[in-house]
Amino acid sequence: MSELFGIIGNPIEHSLSPLLQNEAYTLNGIDAHFQAFHIAPEDLEKAIQGMKAIGVKGFMVTVPFKAAVIPYLDEVDPIAKQKNAVNIVQYIDGKYVGFNFDGEAWLKALLEDMGQKSLRTEKILLLGAGGAAQSIYHTLTQFAEVHIDIANRTLDKAEALKKLGDSHPHTHVISLEEAESKQEQYDIIIQTTSIGMWPNIEESPIQITNLKTGAFVSDIIYNPAETKILEQARKSGARTQNGMKMLAMQNALAIERWTGQKVSYPKMMMSLKEALHST
Ligand code: ATR
Repeated sequence: MSELFGIIGNPIEHSLSPLLQNEAYTLNGIDAHFQAFHIAPEDLEKAIQGMKAIGVKGFMVTVPFKAAVIPYLDEVDPIAKQKNAVNIVQYIDGKYVGFNFDGEAWLKALLEDMGQKSLRTEKILLLGAGGAAQSIYHTLTQFAEVHIDIANRTLDKAEALKKLGDSHPHTHVISLEEAESKQEQYDIIIQTTSIGMWPNIEESPIQITNLKTGAFVSDIIYNPAETKILEQARKSGARTQNGMKMLAMQNALAIERWTGQKVSYPKMMMSLKEALHST
């Protein structure tokens, strides 16, 4: 019998994961179907029980359930627990086990596009302190030598994020204004806020005017494909990356986790580009 996988969220209608996943199953001979489930927050517990009862073997978790889902899982891996966020659930021996591969997917995408195997002593600017920033920051703290400035509109949230990486020796919290004024110091700038996402495509958390030679700017937004900040960065001579590769990596990592099969994420990126182009 065919396996069933899915994604839970609210809203979920615009998720591109069903397209990516079902296409990957067909291309890789995986006998499975992937379904998006729109769930009302008050029905979350019943939904998880229902998915288990009907034999859903794995599901992705997106906004607003990444933290809320945790009490209803049987086990949560230590990294996801530390981040207080789950993005992939796998059915293992009768149990739903939660994982978080968001930071890993982002890092893989970054290193691949930077042409590096690892991070070294780079000076990094992290824009934002929400859920996405949390996963990325946690992943960055494994590199003890990098310098990280967290810039956010609400400084308290940036301070709280810094506390999560208590053992990281070179993290500082700064304002968005300060980040803008010292932008030429950074080797890598990571945009994790929702600013600039369609339809607010003219907005940007900081104005890019003067970047360090060789700087790399990564925005986790993929719609539009080039946000204002990426456009300004490209025009300033920086290398840039949008969120498509991260999204493709997240889906590829989920399939690998659930089926043990490695799938081609470049193909997924082509499908993403086509889908976004036709909307
Ligand atoms: P996600 O889980 O997608 O990261 P989130 O947790 O709501 O979403 O976080 C959104 C991020 O975007 C936060 O860093 C938020 O800044 P605040 O902590 O100050 O709220 C940032 N953000 C969203 N809209 C913003 C705006 N108009 N100006 C500045 N920052 C904004």
